Amino acid sequence: MAKLSKMSQSNYSPETLMMGYGYKPELSEGAVKCPVFQTSTFVFKTAEEGKAFFEMAHGKPGNEGREMGLIYSRINNPDMEILEERLKLWDGGEAAAAFSSGMSAIATSLVSFLKPGDVLLFSNPIYGGTHKFIHFMLRNWGVTPIGFNAGDSKEKIIDMIRQENAGDALRMIYVETPANPTNDLIDIGMCRDIAEHFSNAEKKVYVAVDNTYMGPLWAHPLKHGADIVLYSATKYIGGHSDLIAGAAVGSREIIKTIKKSRTVFGTMIDPHTSWLLMRSLETLKIRMEAAAQNAAVIAEYLSNHPKVTKVYYLGYTEKNNPAQADLVKKQYLSFGAMLSFDVYGGEKEAFQFLNNLKHIKLAVSLGGTESLAEHPFSMTHADVPTEEKNRLGLTENMIRLSVGIEHHRDLIDDIEQALKTI
Ligand SMILES: Cc1ncc(COP(=O)(O)O)c(C=O)c1O
Repeated sequence: MAKLSKMSQSNYSPETLMMGYGYKPELSEGAVKCPVFQTSTFVFKTAEEGKAFFEMAHGKPGNEGREMGLIYSRINNPDMEILEERLKLWDGGEAAAAFSSGMSAIATSLVSFLKPGDVLLFSNPIYGGTHKFIHFMLRNWGVTPIGFNAGDSKEKIIDMIRQENAGDALRMIYVETPANPTNDLIDIGMCRDIAEHFSNAEKKVYVAVDNTYMGPLWAHPLKHGADIVLYSATKYIGGHSDLIAGAAVGSREIIKTIKKSRTVFGTMIDPHTSWLLMRSLETLKIRMEAAAQNAAVIAEYLSNHPKVTKVYYLGYTEKNNPAQADLVKKQYLSFGAMLSFDVYGGEKEAFQFLNNLKHIKLAVSLGGTESLAEHPFSMTHADVPTEEKNRLGLTENMIRLSVGIEHHRDLIDDIEQALKTI
């Protein structure tokens, strides 16, 4: 739906624009908030109008300057489109596409640009679902994945690609930063340089960044050279652990290509979930800020606890990984609200801690209002070979904590009593 309100994005901050940007009350009986357009299809005024909308949807020339209309909710729907108008603002993108899940955003976006014979360079560690998609699905479709590790230098990665004879076929660099669950960082600017190194007049190498852990408030990968920013909107964007959704943000051209695949695959978001996300976006900033404040207090508490041997938190990069300290300043606006920590002992002690939490829920996922704790070694990263986990510093005594917006004193009390049981 092209009939968007005229409120200019240059005048207001995203948190202000989340209240009404892209929505015209006069088109919906004056309703202050955008209703849920729970419909599969839309009525055309005339057959000629329907014909024109389809021509525009298929990019047929001759309709330049005409306003696209609503056709069918797999192609367009007011809730989806207004949500997309709002999503793009946080990252400073030209356009966004909303999806039924983070995985459908990732899978649809990657296959929009990769074809058989191409090489995909990706960072380790990455989310288990993405790991599977890259290693099994893409490989089956003839795409060769080549991994590199957080901390590898530009020269080392370029050398590796050359040694594998993969320079000509390299088509995309896919990274997840900070890496889950170790909070290791990847330099997005470095990825852009590598992409440029292997791009030429015939072939552009794209950089895609999964920004779920820090976005869209604390990191803006497009500003550091990324072409596509991807989200599991299930996490901070949704923020209440009550929906599954995804998003891609980028240039108009890139999102247009991704949306073409989305229409064919049917991986778009539904109207009700779009509506829920618009509601979530109104509180995104205050939720994320409150969670980050809590995380700082909890990290400090954990780092002084005798039963905790290491805290993986962006605020401690200087101590844990001095070589990445400058990158934290360059790439991030906050230390975030995701932290991991090693308890004294092994799996038994980690499980003891998790089993004795009283308020904090033992569950995977992250970015919700409530705090969640899990055991990456046996849960989110169960599928990663043990040898690889050891290499990546993913330990059996590690707990991952997604810090929510509860009172920090209650969270610390809970952590303290659970640690006592070890
Ligand atoms: C970093 C990251 N990316 C992508 C995904 C997949 O998102 P979804 O579960 O919404 O499909 C997840 C899910 O946990 C994730 O943590």
